[in-house]
Amino acid sequence: MEKKLTTSLSEADLKLIEAAKQAALTAYAPYSQFHVGAAVLLSDGRIVKGSNQENKAYGSCVCAERVALLYATANYATTPPVSIAICAMQNNTYMAQPVTPCGECRQVLMEMQTRFQTPIRVVMYGTEHSLVATDASLLLPASF
Ligand code: THU
Repeated sequence: MEKKLTTSLSEADLKLIEAAKQAALTAYAPYSQFHVGAAVLLSDGRIVKGSNQENKAYGSCVCAERVALLYATANYATTPPVSIAICAMQNNTYMAQPVTPCGECRQVLMEMQTRFQTPIRVVMYGTEHSLVATDASLLLPASF
């Protein structure tokens, strides 16, 4: 599959976005009020959801992407993650622009691609438009 950034969504992307939207409803974000949901599709068709989990000690906050990705590999250690959808809402409204993963989550995505030797498709949802990276390396060039 060609590595590219695109705005076009597949049927599978739309289904995964729906799961990410459900996940955003479980966010614990009393400090930022930024409710993020992530849904990871595994190669066996299973979908694993995560949401951001904040902490009074801000450095202990964990992003939705890492909650979902690390739950996936902790519980299904031999099943590669093949794509992840991310969305966020503020004041009960989904963000208009695509929600992109932070640097730390990009590093975790790269580790998973390397570990499973499988490209991870990153679907960043926005109500106005979404952005898709067909390979996580597009989001972290020249990575460690
Ligand atoms: N957050 C995520 O969960 N994922 C992102 O892609 C961006 C940021 C969380 C971290 C924190 O709980 C809140 O959103 C505000 O940064």
